[in-house]
Amino acid sequence: ENPNLKSGQVEIKAKKLIILSKTENDFPFDLNQEPHLHLDTLLDNRSIALRYKKFSSVLKIFETIIQSYREAMKNSGFTEIKSPKITGLASEGGANVFELDYFGQKAYLAQSPQLYKQIGVSIFERVFEVGPVFRKEPHFTTRHLNEYISLDAEMGFISDFGEIMDELEKAVKFVFEKVGKENKRELEIFGVEITSETLKNKIPRLELAEIKKIIKNKYNYQIPEGIEIDPEGERLAGKYAKEEFGSDFLFLTRYPAEKRPFYTMPNSENPEKTESFDLLYKGLEISTGGQRIHNYRQLINNMEKFGLNPKGFEPYLQVFRYGMPPHGGWGIGSERIAYKLLNLSTVKEVPFFPRDVRRLEP
Ligand code: AMO
Repeated sequence: ENPNLKSGQVEIKAKKLIILSKTENDFPFDLNQEPHLHLDTLLDNRSIALRYKKFSSVLKIFETIIQSYREAMKNSGFTEIKSPKITGLASEGGANVFELDYFGQKAYLAQSPQLYKQIGVSIFERVFEVGPVFRKEPHFTTRHLNEYISLDAEMGFISDFGEIMDELEKAVKFVFEKVGKENKRELEIFGVEITSETLKNKIPRLELAEIKKIIKNKYNYQIPEGIEIDPEGERLAGKYAKEEFGSDFLFLTRYPAEKRPFYTMPNSENPEKTESFDLLYKGLEISTGGQRIHNYRQLINNMEKFGLNPKGFEPYLQVFRYGMPPHGGWGIGSERIAYKLLNLSTVKEVPFFPRDVRRLEP
């Protein structure tokens, strides 16, 4: 070993050199230097920029996140399903959906496996899915992608929505633990360490209405009118979780019914609130979930309240006519976990080839 060598740690003496493949041009990046290039340059040249150890390490960690999520779910008795990504239904209510022509018929790219995973509960009791979802969101932010890998789950025979949070908490902690063990070297590049200390405490749970008051009183920030919580509010909620409970994670619960999709179970005492939650990690929403309406009549009524025509949802509703157990689940934006864990500049640094409003290539 020679610490003075620029190229690495080991000096080798070659006996013979065989050229397997010639280059056309000089390589545009110096791979021995820290990649101090503009993000757009790096993303435009993603196929070769990924040769930087730093960027390929993100992919290695992302791989562990997905693999260990699958393992966590299998350990908890969930069956893996794969639902179609071309559908005739817009699951999250019709906004932000990519339309396409399906042999003359209107179709959509799936925004979520939501309706299918609920059907899955009637068959396997517990199901999960790892797959791409598509969002026609015209946002230029550090947390939005137009295609991302959603880690979904749905579980039946629950007695309340707290059980869903218990299961999600278990899965998330398992994923972080695995990354901490299996990606030590990659994490080092980012100066990040996952200790059992960070994962020891139970994730605090606070009602949204409560955190709004705290944010106002403690940080003097007023969440804009008509919005349940904005990114600044989430950031401050995360700050509060860290200061008050020493936790990077925080569950915010009981979102208002008008801000949640039609399938969300209202609270029995106050139907303006729902049995739903968001999970924040370092002040960013990484997951949304909750209990669903399982009663056929209640579901139909709620769809009508949301201005949706139940006729269009026939394939979904069919299963509810034959009795569904109380159930619920979650969806996780997997890229957001890696983004926040590694303190990257944007979520766009996570996918193999990210899709955003302007980026359809490479
Ligand atoms: P929601 O629409 O909140 O809920 O999405 C779930 C989680 O997915 C992530 N996410 C995104 N990540 C990157 N880019 C985006 N444009 C983007 N949009 C969302 C977030 C979010 O928390 N069917 C429900 C889930 C459920 O209730 O089971 C759903 O899709 O981390």
